[in-house]
Amino acid sequence: MTDPSNTSAFLRSRRWFDNPDNPGMTALYVERYMNSGITLEELQSGKPVIGIAQTGSDLVPCNRHHLELARRVREGIRDAGGIPMEFPVHPLAEQGRRPTAALDRNLAYLGLVEILHGYPLDGVVLLTGCDKTTPACLMAAATVNIPAIVLSGGPMLNGWWQGQLAGSGTTIWEARKRHAAGEIDYREFMQMVASSSPSIGHCNTMGTALSMNALAEVIGMSLPGCAAIPAPYRERGWMAHATGKRIVEMVHENLRPSDIMTREAFENAVIAASALGGSSNCPIHMIAIARHMGVDHTLDDWHRLGRHIPLLVDCQPAGRYLGEAFYRAGGVPGVLRELLSAGVLKPQARTVTGRTLGENLANVSEPDHDVIRSYSEPLRESAGYVVLSGNLFDSAIMKTSVIDTEFRARFLCDPEQPGVFTCNAVVFEGPEDYHARIDDPGLGIDEHSLLVIRNSGPIGYPGGAEVVNMQPPAALLKRGITVLPTMGDGRQSGTSASPSILNVSPEAARGGNLALLETGDRVRVDLSEYRVDVLISDEVLALRRSQWTPAIAPSQSPWQELHRRTVGQHGQGACMEPATEFIRIIETHGEARDNH
Ligand code: FES
Ligand code: MG
Repeated sequence: MTDPSNTSAFLRSRRWFDNPDNPGMTALYVERYMNSGITLEELQSGKPVIGIAQTGSDLVPCNRHHLELARRVREGIRDAGGIPMEFPVHPLAEQGRRPTAALDRNLAYLGLVEILHGYPLDGVVLLTGCDKTTPACLMAAATVNIPAIVLSGGPMLNGWWQGQLAGSGTTIWEARKRHAAGEIDYREFMQMVASSSPSIGHCNTMGTALSMNALAEVIGMSLPGCAAIPAPYRERGWMAHATGKRIVEMVHENLRPSDIMTREAFENAVIAASALGGSSNCPIHMIAIARHMGVDHTLDDWHRLGRHIPLLVDCQPAGRYLGEAFYRAGGVPGVLRELLSAGVLKPQARTVTGRTLGENLANVSEPDHDVIRSYSEPLRESAGYVVLSGNLFDSAIMKTSVIDTEFRARFLCDPEQPGVFTCNAVVFEGPEDYHARIDDPGLGIDEHSLLVIRNSGPIGYPGGAEVVNMQPPAALLKRGITVLPTMGDGRQSGTSASPSILNVSPEAARGGNLALLETGDRVRVDLSEYRVDVLISDEVLALRRSQWTPAIAPSQSPWQELHRRTVGQHGQGACMEPATEFIRIIETHGEARDNH
């Protein structure tokens, strides 16, 4: 470890607080920061100033307990000889923000970049949790590249409904089907859904929140064991304290995101996401983080590395359990231990501990195999993400860990052509159109239909709406047909068990061929060749294109408009483009200039 007494020479905060070459500016910077009771001696002591990026608030209930946890982070920072400075991050509430929280991922990223670059911070603790908070924070940490560490907020406790585990999100999709089929009334519907959210914390299923925080740990950006600790457990407070201490040491060691978020780390994330049965949003966010770090990591890596990885973790939506069981069974270190012994991880990737992933895992005990299966006896073989292409789009993904026996039996069982099915498209122009017409008998939806939704991508429904997991019409649900194939340029909730064809890029609003699809078209899905094609000629497609005009709702706010002008497609991480123009900005573009 670097001698702390040598550190102060390269502390960024000294440019603000202790610059004898410019006493006028130094005075301006220090005098107002002293009003918290911090003394001049402290500000000029050469102690690292550590930001605490606060993503919790009343508007972001999944992260609200970070307001409390931050106290333990501060104590850790103080105990290690640092000075904490907490500040707010633009709110990102997956369940609350209209039209989408995804619209604000890049906005929160932008804001955090400006804070980390423009204020006297030597390192930062990123308080993550709800879906978009984790990628937004990691994208900003990558761009600015000052020492950074993730403290996730942890999943909620188990939810229970009539003696069964009720997982957040997953229960909603289930309850909607039962309500539509007339099995439960409105009151029972509300009770069932509420039962899945029994405490503070983020979603307790392996949805986007738990997946992304698990991957933050996998890529080495949080302390080992952090992601799975349920939010209310005392161990969460212990982890907050340890994280605060560790970031101060990281500043002394000058251990930065670029040392940790390497190509190997992102490859490990693909492997782990597949074994976790992780969210279908993970590829989007991990690609975005990697691109902001300047690491070459694409959707092809997800297909190439992930698709043959087995499903190990028995958590909803791909499996049975929730966050508490995952934690008790061994959490992320337990999964990584299995993957490491199977030889599929890159153990040399460095982590925030200063050690490698392999070194961190040296003393991890065997996980409980009821929840975290061994690599040789998985829940499902070859259960990662596949990347599809064809004459409708350049890329889309399918999360194969959620292909259940019903779907397999109905669509993937043709002995002549395993993995191939052909359906009649029924096209919806967005979620409003879907809700208005899904039960219209005139659409002729039957068990051979493919439900398609468009105008739901990063531009079309700004941010990209989680709407592709469309449920069949009530008439089919009542006949016991609970799933139909679906496809769209939107996303879907990481808590959904629907094996949809997702994140179609380019989206309809960008003029992708999905825009030209018509109800009644035959669409052939070939999961052995990873293709999706509409069975019409190029001439017909060209004719439709000549008659096509984009149909998206107008922007409703300045940011919606700016976002639409700058955002890329899901296949490239839905970043503000050009995403690679500003990489490691302090090194490549310099420190910000004085403000007076
Ligand atoms: Fe916030 Fe799931 S809605 S974590
Ligand atoms: Mg969601």
